[in-house]
Amino acid sequence: MTETMFKPPSPDLSLNIAGVRFKNPVIAASGTFGCGTEYSSFFDVSLLGGICTNGLTLMPKTGNAGIRVLETPSGLLNSIGLENSGIPAFLEKDLPGLKNLGTVIIANLSGGSSDEYVDGAVLLNESPVDMIELNISCPNVKEGGMAFGLDPETAASLVMAVRRVCTNKPLMVKLSPNAPSVNAVALACVNAGADALSLVNTFKGMAIDIAGRKPVFENITAGLSGPAIKPISLRIIWELYDALKNSSLLVPIIGIGGISCTEDALEYLMAGACAVQIGSATFVNPHTMPDIIDGIKKYMIDLKLSNLKSISIRE
Ligand SMILES: Cc1cc2nc3c(=O)[nH]c(=O)nc-3n(C[C@H](O)[C@H](O)[C@H](O)COP(=O)(O)O)c2cc1C
Repeated sequence: MTETMFKPPSPDLSLNIAGVRFKNPVIAASGTFGCGTEYSSFFDVSLLGGICTNGLTLMPKTGNAGIRVLETPSGLLNSIGLENSGIPAFLEKDLPGLKNLGTVIIANLSGGSSDEYVDGAVLLNESPVDMIELNISCPNVKEGGMAFGLDPETAASLVMAVRRVCTNKPLMVKLSPNAPSVNAVALACVNAGADALSLVNTFKGMAIDIAGRKPVFENITAGLSGPAIKPISLRIIWELYDALKNSSLLVPIIGIGGISCTEDALEYLMAGACAVQIGSATFVNPHTMPDIIDGIKKYMIDLKLSNLKSISIRE
């Protein structure tokens, strides 16, 4: 018999999150992948498990003035401030192209007030997006964003209001690592109707321009991402898994924070995340995500793991 006849079956990288099928667990993180189409010249974007859109608000936003990104040792500070053209323009101009990319499209929803979130959710609920990621964790806007994600009660009342109108789409809530208790906010969100949790958004940080003798960013603080945050984010996810499990509220956890290679992604999948999102690493190497998909597949073949769940080391 020839060798090809003994080829082992290909491992199954697919997964299901709240009824949505992903072909693999690697998803582009919000705000770092443009509208998806920009990366088509680097690799076949349909290979991705999914794409989270830029932060979307009902009304257009011009974003923050001044310096918006600054490289730091092993990281990136950003203060974009949710620049976007508004949900109606997104639905008309960007979504048709995104839907043609052949991957799961997740709309990242933000707002300056509870009403703005709800009105945005109403439009997305009737659109062809596959899922909504409720961003209650952006540290770079003065109103809304992270202000909804630091306190369990405030977070729960927003999730409940959005859940009420979000009848057709799964709702994933994106959490802030800056909350005094991430676990308390997470549990409140699940109790309020979140189908899944994604975390973390960026850590609040800052930098000072010593020549100008002033903070670099107009808002003084900015959000830190990249490899510098990975050990902290990983620990947060490990602890969150326990908290959800012990409360019998285990929903899918999507791990985010400083993932730049296969080994990083595997750590998150072992710690209790069912999928990962990748942001800043794509700026350094646009091929990071397809490389990680190949790397996970190779790891599964080497260890003879037939499905993704068997990567986890959590009970
Ligand atoms: C330039 C930039 C813009 C971002 N914009 C958003 C956004 O609009 N909405 C959001 O939920 N997260 C946003 N994020 C956060 C990322 O989605 C991600 O949670 C964070 O960067 C941590 O992942 P990373 O270390 O892989 O970059 C942004 C991050 C960066 C670097």
